[in-house]
Amino acid sequence: MPTVPQDLDRYLTEHDARIKRELFELLAIPSVSARSEHDADTRRAAEWVAGSLRAAGLSATVHATPGQPVVVGEYRDAPAGAPTVLVYGHYDVQPAEPLELWTSPPFEATVRDGRIYARGAVDDKGQLFLHVKALEAHLAVRGRLPVNVIVLAEGEEEVGSEHLASFIKAHAGLLRCDGVVISDSSMFAPGLPSVLSSLRGLAYFQIDVQGPAQDLHSGSYGGGVVNPAMALARILATMHDADGRVAIGGFYDAVREWPAHVLEQMRALPFDEESFRAETGSPALGGERGFTVLERLWTRPTCEVNGLLSGYTGEGAKTVLPAKAMAKVSCRLVPDQDPTEIERLMRAHVARVAPAGVTATVTALHGGRPWRGELGGPLFDAARRALAAAFGREPVITGEGGSIPVVGDFERILGAPVLLMGFGLPGENAHAPDEWISVENFEKGMRAVAGLFDELQPRVGGRG
Ligand code: BES
Ligand code: MN
Ligand code: MN
Repeated sequence: MPTVPQDLDRYLTEHDARIKRELFELLAIPSVSARSEHDADTRRAAEWVAGSLRAAGLSATVHATPGQPVVVGEYRDAPAGAPTVLVYGHYDVQPAEPLELWTSPPFEATVRDGRIYARGAVDDKGQLFLHVKALEAHLAVRGRLPVNVIVLAEGEEEVGSEHLASFIKAHAGLLRCDGVVISDSSMFAPGLPSVLSSLRGLAYFQIDVQGPAQDLHSGSYGGGVVNPAMALARILATMHDADGRVAIGGFYDAVREWPAHVLEQMRALPFDEESFRAETGSPALGGERGFTVLERLWTRPTCEVNGLLSGYTGEGAKTVLPAKAMAKVSCRLVPDQDPTEIERLMRAHVARVAPAGVTATVTALHGGRPWRGELGGPLFDAARRALAAAFGREPVITGEGGSIPVVGDFERILGAPVLLMGFGLPGENAHAPDEWISVENFEKGMRAVAGLFDELQPRVGGRG
């Protein structure tokens, strides 16, 4: 079993208290990208990340975009022939609401039971920051890095990375690299380091149904006009068949077969459906007939309601016929579904099934492509060794149901392979109250990343 480089391990241990203090400082900045009232905080977080890169010994620039700024850190002094690694992460976070459900305030990081609780602790500030500290360890202890490094930290991931693809295109020369490393996901289980082989994509819509020009007395008018809430319910009810398959015409046309060896790896993972059910608190599990839970989560596309709004929802009863109804609907996509094509299919479907007597409008909010990786080559081999050294066991290959929109762009625009090694854990409450990262994973994550840079240096006649 490989081991973590001792000099770096010692540095990270000696500086542990300061590293945590700095992390807590970053976590205290409410960089909520979805809220314009937090734009100044989001900019402050970008400057903070740039500052920490400079303190670690990289150069750093904060680039303005039409949205939130992009931070680029650079180290270009590796020995000739050394590869260039691009580290990606996001410094923006999801809104912290509902605040009353947090045990401790979301922007005051608090340690309880071996976990750091704060919005962004795991998604993704904690995981971005552990890369910065791994870089710092190298530069502080040895005065240099074995590979060239670019750090790309964005502030719009949680709202769909709208401006990132064009930023990468415009700066393709600056960002040219041999591989991309991302820690913005989770391990399959505690103690089980994990490398992702896939991410789902996303196509997110709002459906608005308009009926009468204003709310009406449900006695005087009810039965005489089409109720938009009922019409929306009918529209939504057409989106699945009895087997839980998405019933939008053409929805599965681009879905590619999943490779048999990936499905096999998936079946070998220690997964217990009953504990998964218990974790969700649902009375029973559901989904598309004919697939295991992990297959449903990682390999199958979905269409889900994320929000519903119509009529009177306050205390007691109000006899009213609502003027309008709205639903937020999102589809998780798998290779090779394309968010733009799914948008076309969704529009056609809603136009076809919308009842007469109301108008139904579909607005596309954001999207991202699905991704499936090959998991071979020097980057992947180096990750296997570095994760084994830090966690004391070989990583497993997992899939993921969530989305990181930029991953496909890295491959398409930069032509670079992407390695996803995350240090979150099941139940980490990302996007929810009481988000946390395990202290142990944060510490081992820093060591795994520190070791990864060593493992990536070209060696003659060595392993790998
Ligand atoms: N870090 C997550 C992606 C993720 C989710 C990885 C779950 C592993 C497990 C990322 O920040 C995220 O939340 N992505 C969004 C997509 C975006 C377009 C809002 C998602 O998946 O909903
Ligand atoms: Mn994330
Ligand atoms: Mn997220």
